[in-house]
Amino acid sequence: VKKVSESGFKGAGSLDGDKTASKYTDAAESKTIKTVPPEILERRKKHTVITHMFVLSYENTILFALEIYTFYDPTGVTLFVSKADTTGQSPLVDGESVRVSMKDVSRAIIDVLLKHHPGQRVRICLFARPEKQYLFPFSADYPKKHFLSGPQLTKWWIACLDGLLDDFENPTATLRIPGAENRTIQSFLEGLPRWTMGDIFKYQKPEVGEVPESDAKLAIYQLPRFPDDPKSRFLDFLASEGRTTTCSIEMFWEEIQGRQEFNAGIMVGLMGVDGVVKGETQPETEPASSLSYKEFKNVREIITESDYTTTELVIDANRELTEDGPAQSRVGFKGQLERAAPVASELKRAPVVNTLDMNLVRKKKKTN
Ligand code: ACO
Repeated sequence: VKKVSESGFKGAGSLDGDKTASKYTDAAESKTIKTVPPEILERRKKHTVITHMFVLSYENTILFALEIYTFYDPTGVTLFVSKADTTGQSPLVDGESVRVSMKDVSRAIIDVLLKHHPGQRVRICLFARPEKQYLFPFSADYPKKHFLSGPQLTKWWIACLDGLLDDFENPTATLRIPGAENRTIQSFLEGLPRWTMGDIFKYQKPEVGEVPESDAKLAIYQLPRFPDDPKSRFLDFLASEGRTTTCSIEMFWEEIQGRQEFNAGIMVGLMGVDGVVKGETQPETEPASSLSYKEFKNVREIITESDYTTTELVIDANRELTEDGPAQSRVGFKGQLERAAPVASELKRAPVVNTLDMNLVRKKKKTN
């Protein structure tokens, strides 16, 4: 584990007053997994992945969370926007419920990450796949939660990313919708001159000693793998069929349309942005305090294993994330973190967290 930090995050959304948005970050240096020449090994050692968990809360209520991974490799930086979710709660200002644009919040968060990499090549990748809930278990049961359908979500993310394109020099922005006709995909891109159909995973000449040039056009060498990523699952499937050395990238995109997670009647938009970020790098500000890897896991667990069915339960979850929480589950961001594992009775129901493969992962109840 290289670095784990938590820092106050300002700038997202347009709320005044007691706005808190927190960023929990977890980074780990990855190990090389195959034998490579020493000069490449040196560069591989620098491969790092950082997990960011942004949580937006207002006063005592959690509103929204966004999980993003940053991957570093010799060709640049990749931001994989993994999961966005809302609790359905609205901030109450002077007793009035106020709507916050989560699209603007998401854009502001990604913008903060981009600002750390001006002058560098950055790729942004995401899969727009609607679900009832991703990060906040049982929030789907909260009657006021607002959902977007597949086409709405695809438009939502396109609009969100389009607002970031001015941050790049000559960016490429792409949309792929497996199983959709070209004219359907084009209809999403009307009035957006900088967007094209396709994807950003273009053929790249292999590094010396990496893979033979004849193999470089195979999907297995062209496509990055992300956590909880439908592409990776299909690559694994190809491997199980012994087809990794024959499946070209064109075949891959053709065949992936037949996968259940892309043809179950729910539109999934695959989006990418690729370009060099403009301007001067803004160094990352020193975090207000740091969390160890274990502490980060605890924080993530509180967020993704609480029950978000009612406003009261959301307030409880928020309390657990702050110093005012009950002693057995206190997270002291400014000092030492001490969180005893929750007792079984604390977990009212086994939380459900969605993954992009449409399977519900029902977490085991804690027994200690
Ligand atoms: N009633 C009516 N309209 C509403 C409401 C509401 N309660 N809340 C928001 N809206 C409208 C907004 O006014 C806005 O309209 P506009 O486009 O005309 O301006 C539109 O809905 C979008 O509002 P946002 O605040 O930007 O987004 P929203 O609150 O819907 O949050 C999100 C978007 C996070 C996708 C939410 O729908 C959600 O939690 N969905 C379930 C989980 C999910 O599918 N996540 C996305 C997975 S894909 C990925 O993460 C990479």
